[in-house]
Amino acid sequence: KNGGELAGRTVLITAGPTREKIDPVRFLTNHSTGKMGYAIAGEAVKMGARVILVSGPVNLEPPKGAELFKVESAEDMYQAALEHFDEADIMIGTAAVADYRPKYIYEEKMKKKEGDQALELERTRDILFELGQKKNGQVMVGFAAETNDIEIHAKGKLSRKNADMIVANNVKQEGAGFGADTNIVTIYKKDGTAINLPLMSKSEVARNILAEVVQCFKKDESL
Ligand code: PMT
Repeated sequence: KNGGELAGRTVLITAGPTREKIDPVRFLTNHSTGKMGYAIAGEAVKMGARVILVSGPVNLEPPKGAELFKVESAEDMYQAALEHFDEADIMIGTAAVADYRPKYIYEEKMKKKEGDQALELERTRDILFELGQKKNGQVMVGFAAETNDIEIHAKGKLSRKNADMIVANNVKQEGAGFGADTNIVTIYKKDGTAINLPLMSKSEVARNILAEVVQCFKKDESL
């Protein structure tokens, strides 16, 4: 193999927020900037992987060497990720995918009226969950953006989404989560162990996650 520890491997990464349309001028979204996902993409390229980056709308330059697929909605992101899933050896879901979208998209701009206005929402597809059902040998890493009971929620996601690892961050903590250049994460693994990482740059977090992924392959090869 030439070079890095991920040479010959393809990594599929989802990053950034999604946008769920309300009408031609409005949408629902969240605070994700894509920094965490783009950091993983950049480090994976450095480790020699082929990187497929499926990204919601962000203001970042994609890392050189990554293949970028721009998407808007959760449904677009699902379709793009599904399209590349079979080529992937590793799937990492860092995207903050909307869990709900407006049930009806208004064709014209909604007009102000007297009184309150309710917005009816429906569930979007859970990309990580659905790809977890289609897994055939991929190492799957999910994230968990939590504000409370982190371990319980992260472990729940680990089993429900058929993931090999869940990287949990407390998004209420200073220096962690949305927008920051740093993060504070705990990596929950399928074997029941957890790795607590102190505050570090998102690139360092990325290197730690990818080192764990490399370990997964080493374990498989030694069986
Ligand atoms: O982009 P940054 O500003 O750098 O911020 C980084 C981050 C906070 C977005 C990132 O570190 C993070 O926590 N990403 C996951 C955000 C999230 O939506 O978490 P969740 O707990 O709701 O989802 C759990 C997992 O399922 C995630 O891997 C998510 O990508 C995935 N998911 C969720 C819903 C959905 N419909 N489809 C999914 O694939």
